[in-house]
Order: sequence, then C-alpha cells, then structure tokens
Amino acid sequence: MQLTRIAIIGAGLMGHGIAQAFATAGREVAIYEADAERRAGIRARVRANLRLVGQDEAAADLISPCGDLSGAVAAADVVIEAVPEDLALKQQVFAQVEAAAPANALLASNTSVIPITHIMAGLRHRHRAMGTHWWNPPYQIPLVEVVQARDTGAAEIAAMMGLLSAIGKMPVHVRKDVPGFIGNRLQHALWREAIALVENGVCDAATVDAVVKASFGRRLAVLGPLENADLVGTDLALMVHRYILPDLDRTPGPQALLQELVASGRLGMKSGAGFREWSPDEAQALRATLARHLDTFSGANGPGPAPESD
Ligand SMILES: NC(=O)c1ccc[n+]([C@@H]2O[C@H](COP(=O)([O-])OP(=O)(O)OC[C@H]3O[C@@H](n4cnc5c(N)ncnc54)[C@H](O)[C@@H]3O)[C@@H](O)[C@H]2O)c1
Repeated sequence: MQLTRIAIIGAGLMGHGIAQAFATAGREVAIYEADAERRAGIRARVRANLRLVGQDEAAADLISPCGDLSGAVAAADVVIEAVPEDLALKQQVFAQVEAAAPANALLASNTSVIPITHIMAGLRHRHRAMGTHWWNPPYQIPLVEVVQARDTGAAEIAAMMGLLSAIGKMPVHVRKDVPGFIGNRLQHALWREAIALVENGVCDAATVDAVVKASFGRRLAVLGPLENADLVGTDLALMVHRYILPDLDRTPGPQALLQELVASGRLGMKSGAGFREWSPDEAQALRATLARHLDTFSGANGPGPAPESD
C-alpha cells in the first residue's frame, strides 16, 4: 500500500502536531480546520514548534491548510481525525470523510478514550477504519497506539503500523477496542488512586506529585511496570498484591473531589487553580520544564526493547 498523501481533520493541539510529525518526515499533509483564525495560524504554529525543538522550519511548508473537508481528503491515502472528544461530532466528521475520500484510504481517529467501533459504526467500509492514538506533543512522543476496531482488517492495521514506523514513530498494536486503549487505562488508574489519596487525607496534591516524580517516576522511562515486576520477582509482586489490591480505590465513576473542583471553576492551570494553585509564571515554568525534559530523549523510540509487532 502506497501511503504518501496524508490528510488531518482538526488543527488543535493534537492535529497540528500530528501534521508536523508527518511533515518533518517529508510527507505532504493537507489539514482541514473549521476555525478560520486557527486555520490561518497553522504553519506559524508548526514553525514555532520546530524552532523550539531545533528542527528545520522548512517542514512547515509541506503542510497545506484547507478551508473545506472534501478538498483536504479527496486525494488522501490516510485521513487522521483530531476534532474534539465528542462521539456525535466524530461520527459526523467520518460520514463526511467517507463521502469525499478515496474508497481505500485508511481512516483513523485520534480519540483518547472513545471506542473506535462506536465512532466508525455508520461507515460503509469499516475494514479500513481504526484508531491511531498519539500522545502530546505528537512530534516529541514516539508512541502511537494503533487500535483495531471490531471490523478493522489486518492488512490495514499492518499498513498503518508500517507508515508510522517509516516516519520514525513507535506504533503498537492494540488488539481489542477497549475504552482508553492501553496508555490511558494505565494513566487513569494512577490518577484515580492519586485523587483518592488526597480525598482520604493521606497527603496533599503536591505530595502525591512529589512521590511519583522522585520515586518510581524516575524509573518509568526505562522500566515498564511488568519489567519491574519481573525485576523484583513475580512472587514478591503476588505477596504485595494480596495486601494492597483490596485497599486500592475502586470508585466506579469520577470521584467527588474532581467533580467539586470542576463545579467550583478550579479547572487547573488555565483558571489559576485546580488540585493546586498556579500563578501564570509557575504554570509556564512547568510547561518549559516538561518541554526540556522531553527534548532530552534522543532517537524517536526512546530506550528499551521494542514490543512484539505483528
Ligand atoms: N490533548 C491531548 O493531550 C490529547 C492526546 C491524545 C489524544 N487527544 C484527542 O485528540 C482529539 C483532539 O484533541 P485536541 O486536544 O487536539 O483538541 P483541540 O480542541 O485542541 O482541537 C480540536 C480542533 O478541531 C477543530 N474542529 C472542531 N470541529 C471541527 C470539524 N467539524 N472539522 C474540522 N475541525 C474541527 C477545532 O476548531 C479545534 O481546532 C480529541 O479526540 C482528544 O481526546 C488529545
């Protein structure tokens, strides 16, 4: 399968960054964004990112902003959707995409948690529809989860994995279409327990973050949880789990503390407070620290053995 022409739908945080990841690998990208002002700023935004990570700004010229969806996808080999996390909106976008894109184009959603099978339910040719879950910022984080929905074909999954490898990404195959796929299930299991620790008065939010960052967080980039279990021994893991698992939080929905924060307008850095207080300078300093940290990982795939691929 020749996959050279890429189309992206939505040029927000993720869409413009995904476009950048393809453009820096020399691919031409057409990108449709509904908001005219945002559309006009796509190349400047990508140039600013490229400057920040010390890459050639010329890559931005390979990105063509489009004012209509049909024009963006008409000749596409691959279409990646990155509009807001709303099932009805995504279904509507894919109906338009299917009507305008070539019949054999690969179609992918960048949803964070919505099952791909639900998003693609209304399509006629579902064997070429799948998830590609990128991480922010898409041009710095190597991993992309390639999600097999109920009707996705094996050849189409393999073609998408091949394309992502060819542009220097590290694709992994998610074989079942579970909400949150792999990474977000792991991440939000941790967040639930973090919130429970604060709710139950064990410690404050700053302490939760300090414990993660200065202890097992230091190892995570080179030692995954199951590598860690093998390192200490599965017998020790079993003993620990007998004690701790019955005591971990199992609240089946969003916890009261999170709901209260949102209801009272404590929306995080954008409102100056969330679990913690944030001055604009503190928020900016943390963002800069994160960008510098991500920049220290050289090589697209980072350390560690590659996972099995199929
Ligand atoms: N933010 C993250 O860290 C992250 C990470 C992985 C996946 N995701 C997922 O990626 C998707 C996009 O997230 P984001 O953070 O980039 O959102 P965003 O709000 O930054 O960007 C969405 C963009 O889509 C545009 N848009 C809305 N409706 C449109 C339409 N019908 N056609 C074309 N453009 C349209 C908006 O104007 C906006 O620019 C969501 O599904 C989200 O869950 C986000």
